Amino acid sequence: MCGIVGYIGTQQASEILIEGLRCLEYRGYDSAGIATVSEGEIHCIRAKGKLNNLQDKLMGHEMPGIVGIGHTRWATHGKPEEHNAHPHLDMTRRVAVVQNGIVENYRELREALKERGCTFVTETDTEVIPNLVIECLNQMKATGELSQHPSPLTEAVRRVVNQLEGAFAIVVLCVDYPDEIVAARQQAPLVIGFGLGEFFCASDTPAILPHTRAVLPLENGELATLTPLGVEVCNFAGQRLRKHPHLLSGASIAVEKHGFRHFMLKEIYEQPSVVRACLEAYIDREWTAKETTHPVQLGLPAELYADLQQIQIVACGTSWHASLVGKHLLEQLAGIPTQVHYASEYRYAPPPLTPNTLMIGVTQSGETADTLSAISMEKERRSNLAPAFRPRLLGITNRMQSTLTRLVDCAIDTHAGIEIGVAATKTFMAQLMAFYCLALDLAYQRKTISPDRLQEIITALRHVPSQIESVLADQEQRVEELAHDFSETQDFIFVGRGINFPIALEGALKLKEISYIHAEGYPAGEMKHGPIALLDAKVPVVAITMPGAVYEKVISNAQEAKARDARLIGVTPPTNPHAAEVFDDLLPVPEIEELLSPLLTVIPMQLLSYHIAARRGLDVDQPRNLAKSVTVE
Ligand code: AGP
Repeated sequence: MCGIVGYIGTQQASEILIEGLRCLEYRGYDSAGIATVSEGEIHCIRAKGKLNNLQDKLMGHEMPGIVGIGHTRWATHGKPEEHNAHPHLDMTRRVAVVQNGIVENYRELREALKERGCTFVTETDTEVIPNLVIECLNQMKATGELSQHPSPLTEAVRRVVNQLEGAFAIVVLCVDYPDEIVAARQQAPLVIGFGLGEFFCASDTPAILPHTRAVLPLENGELATLTPLGVEVCNFAGQRLRKHPHLLSGASIAVEKHGFRHFMLKEIYEQPSVVRACLEAYIDREWTAKETTHPVQLGLPAELYADLQQIQIVACGTSWHASLVGKHLLEQLAGIPTQVHYASEYRYAPPPLTPNTLMIGVTQSGETADTLSAISMEKERRSNLAPAFRPRLLGITNRMQSTLTRLVDCAIDTHAGIEIGVAATKTFMAQLMAFYCLALDLAYQRKTISPDRLQEIITALRHVPSQIESVLADQEQRVEELAHDFSETQDFIFVGRGINFPIALEGALKLKEISYIHAEGYPAGEMKHGPIALLDAKVPVVAITMPGAVYEKVISNAQEAKARDARLIGVTPPTNPHAAEVFDDLLPVPEIEELLSPLLTVIPMQLLSYHIAARRGLDVDQPRNLAKSVTVE
């Protein structure tokens, strides 16, 4: 996580850096800082907390320089205090560094530097980097090597990154080389932007797009030297690489709340459009069961599906919950055995290799380090095997220009649009839609579904946007009122079964991350095997109770909770004949067939967590300790 930016050009750097950091604050907001170089001095200013604190500090403060670097932090090593905020300087204040990632061998490096007389003022892993760079430059000077390199700073950074272990992206500036900044990437994203006489680098394109559309994403093991004259790229071995920027399409991202109190609420309300966008992109509008043409157009190559025997999905957090719904669909509709793994676990305990296996990486950001590592590992371990075992990699993402899409063979674009709220809402909905489309596509091609049944599902999917709209229109006020009752509640339980069990997990995660209330999601039938001991009048239970195969069972499980005095909230159609008798409160959703019900049942979950957090006066869009894009393992 963390967002890093760099600028070299003709304008005052500090303003551009702050603007860039504003676009990257979703990556972390524990502290922020910038450093510029001018007149033989590094000017560095940092502040604990959000970017606004840094801006306040900058008011009336002279920050000269047309070259600079900036950082917004999600703390890994060292508390989120000002002294641990980036940029970090070497002990002689000649080199400044910002880092996104973790230097795993920093302890050894730090100890070795200490033995050589270096002193440290932070608890961070990053502080070793400027000290190693200056040490290297000093050595090069002592041995007369400086003149052998067109950019001694680049050479010093190159030698240093070869000593670092871990996943990181860094940007470095030095008072002795005031006309350049050096950026390096190893497993953490970094993009270079090409303007007219000015150059940028950043963890993500939104920080660059207001200035230029010409961008070059660095690959792992690459370094870029940015000067007012251009950009040179080389690899960590020092070989020069010929690389050219490409033009990004699309407008720069407008980050507006459009009258909503929080981005999260706006994004909840965008979900009908997200479903429409997916249907429009992937399902043939004219198709009927009589057609012989293919109704689902995902544009995936035929080799991906050939003789498919198994699917492995890797994902984290909310994307993992969407993948659990995906598993249900892929198994029940397309008949393909599917496993869903926490990406963070997969890499270190992968399942035995199986032939004709598709791996799907699901990540809205396309930058989640755990997910990327799991996919890289799978790609590597399958690369030299017999054809049936070769990697087949599919991504499901909202960011088609992310590291994920460069790693996989092909990707499904979820068309959700940028999501600012740290709590995923519309991107979850879009991931669900991607799985419905994928499962229907596979089912059609494998002939595990009849054309009539396919038409039935497609018709029902087309009603979903207006059904979501009706939940939002009818329920928001009711949920807001209900939320008032729970602003002091300490524990919540969410239960569901079958395809709605992942929605119970998602309801609990949403509540935890934005309201800081302890919440658990369980398969409703599992409560009696232990968790029911938690229940009493102080622990509300939200039961997702949709007509279908498990309906009666969930009703019984809900009764069991009620018998233990739990306040019972039913997410259920208003036509549910048991509703009044069983539930203390209702969060009605329209009738929908069970297979599609997660698309509706998740909406009250999102609204409930949103309103409880808002009622508690919490920072809904930027909850404590979290970041939108988790780029460390
Ligand atoms: C969602 O509300 C969370 N903030 C988090 O669990 C998130 O889903 C997870 O970090 C995975 O992110 P990704 O989809 O970008 O990979």
